Amino acid sequence: MKNKKDNENNKEEAENKAPSQGLTRRSFLTTLGAGAMTLAVADKLHATPAADAEMIERGEMTKVVLDINGRKYRLLVEPRWSLLYVLREQLGLTGTKVGCERGECGTCTVIINDVPRYACMILAVEAEGTKITTLEGLMKGEELGLVQKAFVEHDAFQCGYCAPGQIMAVEGLLRKNPDPSTEEIRHGMSGNLCRCGAYKHIVNAAKKAAELKRS
Ligand code: FES
Ligand code: FES
Repeated sequence: MKNKKDNENNKEEAENKAPSQGLTRRSFLTTLGAGAMTLAVADKLHATPAADAEMIERGEMTKVVLDINGRKYRLLVEPRWSLLYVLREQLGLTGTKVGCERGECGTCTVIINDVPRYACMILAVEAEGTKITTLEGLMKGEELGLVQKAFVEHDAFQCGYCAPGQIMAVEGLLRKNPDPSTEEIRHGMSGNLCRCGAYKHIVNAAKKAAELKRS
């Protein structure tokens, strides 16, 4: 009888000590602020949720409204989903390409509030309230945008896989600096890698795009 009672007490104690089974919205946002996106979705954060905190279980969907290319999308997303994943897999905006998925190659570059950003490094829930432009947003119907035209004119790609990200980086650069020097273009494009080594053509295309935009 005593043993049974002890076992019950131990079980209760162990349950009290066990990490929480969910992720609070507060701990999730705090983690984002610290820039540790991976931790935000790792198995149960070790934080203890406040008793009245809203719980987000793994796999649970949350509502977001994303402003993409001037259109508002109301979506249900998992808190761990990157903007890149949502653009491509949920919305079919496949102009944004997948590369390293860890903020190194620039293939996934989109423009957020006029600044080029890696879509693989931003959670969809973080992007709410911003203005997002993807490659598709540079076009008018079927007509290419000016930066895209400049890339075609200057043959600024070989395999072309990096080109969407390069184009978005040039677009972002020119929004900030409409008449960049060669050095400024190189600096502005330094976050975008091209394994084919088309850099010379890309710089020329950026100069041409600047010209087209100013005319
Ligand atoms: S896929 Fe985002 S930086 Fe490489
Ligand atoms: S054109 Fe092939 S990776 Fe840049």
